[in-house]
Amino acid sequence: MLDKKIADMLNEQVNKEFYSAYLYLDFANYYADEGLDGFANWYQVQAQEERDHAMMMRRYLIDNGVRVTFGKIAKPDKTYKKHSDALDFGLEHEQFVSASIAEIYAAANEIKDFKTMQFLDWFVKEQGEEEKNAEDLIKKMKLFGGDAKGLYMLNQELAARVYAAPTNGPAM
Ligand code: FEO
Repeated sequence: MLDKKIADMLNEQVNKEFYSAYLYLDFANYYADEGLDGFANWYQVQAQEERDHAMMMRRYLIDNGVRVTFGKIAKPDKTYKKHSDALDFGLEHEQFVSASIAEIYAAANEIKDFKTMQFLDWFVKEQGEEEKNAEDLIKKMKLFGGDAKGLYMLNQELAARVYAAPTNGPAM
């Protein structure tokens, strides 16, 4: 059985991960509307990964005897004035999620819940990768996104991203 506070934080994190998926689909909707189908694809794949994160946490809670409850998923409220805006929001959001996971990690550490810390290790690593991906996208956009040809090439590169279910992560 998990500590109540840790269970509640993880349950809350399930909602945050579903919201992440929702937010990234909103980015994808925007890019699709702008005719940037590669960017739309990149975020659609990202949304699938976020759903996986939610499902992993849900599974962990269930496997530890916790009744999972779902809260409302907030409406994404971003306004995109230029093509780089969603990329900036994406990095900001990943930093928020990393901080949120770090809080759960710290709470687990405080009560010596090593099992949860071990479970969260995968997410800590994953967040590092996701922040790096978001930073790389911003860099590429700054370098190449300024002219039509560069944007076209970048869009093509992002169109190649394919979803693959994680093979090394916690069970879903
Ligand atoms: Fe699941 Fe990108 O945080």
